[in-house]
Amino acid sequence: MFRTHILGDHVSGDYTHPDTIKWSEIRTNVSKYRQIGAHQRSPAPLTLHRALQTSPVVTLIGHTPLVRLTRVTEALSPAVALYVKLEGLNPGGSVKDRTALFIVREALRKGDLVPGRALLDATSGNTGIAYAMLGAVLGFPVLLALPADASPERIQILRAYGAQLILTDPAAGTDDARHLVHELVTTEPDRYFHADQYSNPANPLAHYTTTGPEIWQQTKGQITHFVAGLGTGGTMMGVGHYLREQNHGVQLVGVQPASPQNGIEGLKHLATADVPAIYDPNLVDRIAVVSTEEACAMARRLARQEGLFVGVSAGAAVVAALRVARKLVQGLVVALLPDGGFKYASAPFWAE
Ligand SMILES: Cc1ncc(COP(=O)(O)O)c(C=O)c1O
Repeated sequence: MFRTHILGDHVSGDYTHPDTIKWSEIRTNVSKYRQIGAHQRSPAPLTLHRALQTSPVVTLIGHTPLVRLTRVTEALSPAVALYVKLEGLNPGGSVKDRTALFIVREALRKGDLVPGRALLDATSGNTGIAYAMLGAVLGFPVLLALPADASPERIQILRAYGAQLILTDPAAGTDDARHLVHELVTTEPDRYFHADQYSNPANPLAHYTTTGPEIWQQTKGQITHFVAGLGTGGTMMGVGHYLREQNHGVQLVGVQPASPQNGIEGLKHLATADVPAIYDPNLVDRIAVVSTEEACAMARRLARQEGLFVGVSAGAAVVAALRVARKLVQGLVVALLPDGGFKYASAPFWAE
């Protein structure tokens, strides 16, 4: 069992949402989700369903490549491999295409997303881009609240897809945007479908149903450690549960920023933020704490040495994965890289 203490990291289990949704409750919905899109008697309009079933863009979501890192891994034992899952190659540019697709499918199936209603959510960017892309493809309005300091590229992309934006106080992070959305939904519930990726079981189920099985198949069941950043926790919960069902010994490492104001978009500082209801800290073996400087430096190295232009949270995931891999004599470590670097291209650290 791999339980070595890692300097600067701590074991998980410290932060829990007061109403954490139990995995057993989430898991019961799996068969329903697998059938989504096949329903003829759904309360959602047939045109939206037809668009969902026939959209070429929707078929591009998932099935992302898993590639081995060869240059930044110089100090590893020869029997240790570090692979990265390139989620930036989804059509909307991030891992969140999977989440958004499952959330929208389920809302159509249940009749929560109907003509005249806008999809509403709080998002630091990537999930919003995925909603906006699906809204454009399927023809429903998308209204998003996000902190005003989201990268200018992200805001431009959201506008390009035709989403409407509410920019909130950057000092309050994504929590402020979430509170605002809560207010809108409470005052005018019929105008909005609140997608709520932080408590929507469709979020972890997207990863349980797609990302987890892909990683298991791509590693031919040889994966020993899975490393992913924690935002909503959806990726870790879904992939983690799937991998554990295949092999109970797979170790799960969650990545956390070192401080609340960290500039690593997509990651939540769980010690000070609202903990998502879908996140169960007991599933994770260990939390790796990564500084913004380490994450940016690794994003630069990945571009310059591996030819992978990825985002800052992807840099953080590789920092954590390398810490794990360096302690191993034998193993196969997979780090999930949530998005590409293009949305952060204006950040000054690339030129350092
Ligand atoms: C860039 C980036 N990294 C990491 C994450 C974390 O993923 P999750 O919300 O599944 O925990 C996100 C989520 O938005 C993200 O956008």
